[in-house]
Amino acid sequence: MTDAKPEALPDHLWRPLTQHRNLRGQTPRRMVKGDGCYIFDEQGNRFLDAIAGLWCVNVGYGREELGDIARRQMAELNYLAPLMSSGPVIEFAEKLQQMLGFECHVYFSCSGSEANETAIKIARQYHLQSGRAGQMRYKIISRYRAYHGNTMAALAATGQAERKMGYEPGPTGFIHIMPPYPYRAHPKLTAEEHGEECARQLEETILHEGAETVAAFIMEPLLSGGGVLVPPDNYIPRVREICDRYGVLLIFDEVVSGFGRLGTMFGFEHWRTEADIYTFAKGLASGYVPVAATVAKKHVFDEFDGEPDETKHFRQINTYGGHPVSSAVAIAAIEIVEREDLASNAREVGGYMINELSRVLADHPFAGEVRGKGMIMGIELVENRASKEPLADEHVTAIVNDCVANGVVLGRNSNTIPGRCNVLLIAPPLILKRDEADMIVSTVDAAMRRVLNGRRSA
Ligand SMILES: Cc1ncc(COP(=O)(O)O)c(C=O)c1O
Repeated sequence: MTDAKPEALPDHLWRPLTQHRNLRGQTPRRMVKGDGCYIFDEQGNRFLDAIAGLWCVNVGYGREELGDIARRQMAELNYLAPLMSSGPVIEFAEKLQQMLGFECHVYFSCSGSEANETAIKIARQYHLQSGRAGQMRYKIISRYRAYHGNTMAALAATGQAERKMGYEPGPTGFIHIMPPYPYRAHPKLTAEEHGEECARQLEETILHEGAETVAAFIMEPLLSGGGVLVPPDNYIPRVREICDRYGVLLIFDEVVSGFGRLGTMFGFEHWRTEADIYTFAKGLASGYVPVAATVAKKHVFDEFDGEPDETKHFRQINTYGGHPVSSAVAIAAIEIVEREDLASNAREVGGYMINELSRVLADHPFAGEVRGKGMIMGIELVENRASKEPLADEHVTAIVNDCVANGVVLGRNSNTIPGRCNVLLIAPPLILKRDEADMIVSTVDAAMRRVLNGRRSA
């Protein structure tokens, strides 16, 4: 036995998704400022944030006007119980309804997890109140690889085993199916056939579970954190048809895809398909305040109409839901996205960057596939382009670390699917310019070549 004490940890902050043993003896970098697409540490080193925080700082860092609005609203009315209504929260709901362009009602909370938790509860209660006597629709179908949040129902809907290990069993009634994954689809299938096959899996699952037990299907239009999976064009419209056929509500988790990220204001616009319930967070206030929204279309909301003693109303409250400061700041952040037409910039500069990444990595043996839409892209890293075996974790980590050491912060799908955390994630602020896109591309290219050369010479 030794009495040597382990080296002390640098501080008392419990960090997410982090093995703290790796921090012993280190001084973690402290970030002190943000400006545009860049963040700065206390030594003045500058980093291009190619993942926009957690793909949320859509309008970029350091927008002073948002700080001014927060200060003014705090001085005027810093908080109001959500049972009462402030000007900003009513205006915020009106703004969303007007942007979405259909009749809806908005329930506010503070995070994507809460927004999805709320959507799932709304879906279950909706069926209880609208369904045929004797029917009990409570099951939620979702997809493997998708992340929907860390609270128990949102986690149960999540299809990433590593995020769930140790926290299960969760609530019952959650079923998963495979999402479209063109890169790993059967090579004989066309994109359309693959989309059809995946949609059919939803139908078969509903049938095998018993349609009268299924409340909702929850999905992101473009699956983001699980590896940036872009669906074939026919998939989402077919999902809508199937949900309609079996009376299943469709929930679009637009926590990442909402507010310009995919090159349209909302992700669903690409597939011209509407859901019954939507959830938004992240880009909703560009990370300036914690805010989220669950939006229910009129036909869903109408089932909550009744006499007070019927208890048909939605019986949930969030202390900080509909916060006046968050609402005022979020409205102004959305107005920046509109005024500066950041969805178009995401489409143009994002499209350019996807092409550039594909071009420079065309011959790189690690580059299995470059994919994405608008200002969100993934690079699937493989050991071998023929076998598509995922690149070893240490090499993925080395590439990410090399990029950071050279001034570009990007992400990867860490702690998601065992043995499949091999996708680099790039989703910069939507204000990104072409020369900044070039810098990201050249940094990623150089990092991948250095790691490849290091491995060859090892
Ligand atoms: C698609 C999606 N849904 C929900 C969430 C959960 O959001 P939050 O971390 O704000 O709870 C996330 C978070 O990354 C997400 O990517």
